Amino acid sequence: MNKLIVSLLLTVGISGIAHAAGDATAGQAKAAVCGACHGPDGNSMAPNFPKLAGQGERYLNKQLHDIKSGKRTVLEMTGLLTNLSDQDLADIAAYFASQKGSVGAADPKIVARGEALFRGGDLAKGLPACTGCHAPNGAGNAAAGFPHLGGQHAQYVTKQLTDFRKEEGGRTNDGDAKPMQSIAKRMSDEDIAAVSSYIQGLH
Ligand code: HEC
Ligand code: HEC
Repeated sequence: MNKLIVSLLLTVGISGIAHAAGDATAGQAKAAVCGACHGPDGNSMAPNFPKLAGQGERYLNKQLHDIKSGKRTVLEMTGLLTNLSDQDLADIAAYFASQKGSVGAADPKIVARGEALFRGGDLAKGLPACTGCHAPNGAGNAAAGFPHLGGQHAQYVTKQLTDFRKEEGGRTNDGDAKPMQSIAKRMSDEDIAAVSSYIQGLH
């Protein structure tokens, strides 16, 4: 393991948010409005809307709080979370976490580069393997809040990595250690396209 990943592993995950336990059954009713974009069971059909099915509960809850507070900007969701309580968000997170995520297909032309990056990183660029935090099968680490990536839409993943890489106006809700911002800055457009395609077919 290189130094970057060791220091990242030590610092992420320490600062968690305290939250109520979610009730998936209650969450299903509360999530009805979300289905239009994310799919009723969290398997969205459109590649710009992230799949939420099977995503880790802790990660989902964090994103919902960050989107509600404006720490993460999602224009499409403006106002949607305003009237939801912490308990509502916890219930919705529990509901989507309990659903089974679907898987897509990788582009055969770039999948080899994507797999090499995901599994081995790129030593020359100081890029750690994604598996260290997101697991070899892309399932993430639910307890630590490392998101599940396997099967996620490539277009959505590409947008996130590009947003993490931006100096301004990008995605900064990345935990105190900012692992994804420092990782994405080491990735070229080609790296991002390849790893995103690989992730779409990963399960
Ligand atoms: C009009 C479409 C739309 C609706 C309705 C909507 N969302 Fe979203 N949501 C989005 C988009 C688009 C993104 C991704 C934005 C980006 O690219 O960063 C997103 C992102 C998210 C994320 C972050 C996912 C991740 O992997 O980080 C969560 C969680 C989420 N939405 C939950 C919800 C919930 C819960 C509701 C219902 C209360 C909801 N959304 C309703 C469009 C929508
Ligand atoms: C040191 C741990 C770590 C490593 C290594 C790591 N990640 Fe992450 N990743 C995270 C954490 C933590 C988050 C969630 C940030 C947050 O809470 O908002 C994340 C979020 C993401 C997201 C956003 C997911 C979503 O649903 O919006 C993508 C995409 C991603 N990582 C891709 C990668 C790729 C590709 C690699 C390898 C090149 C990688 N990550 C390596 C810890 C890591």
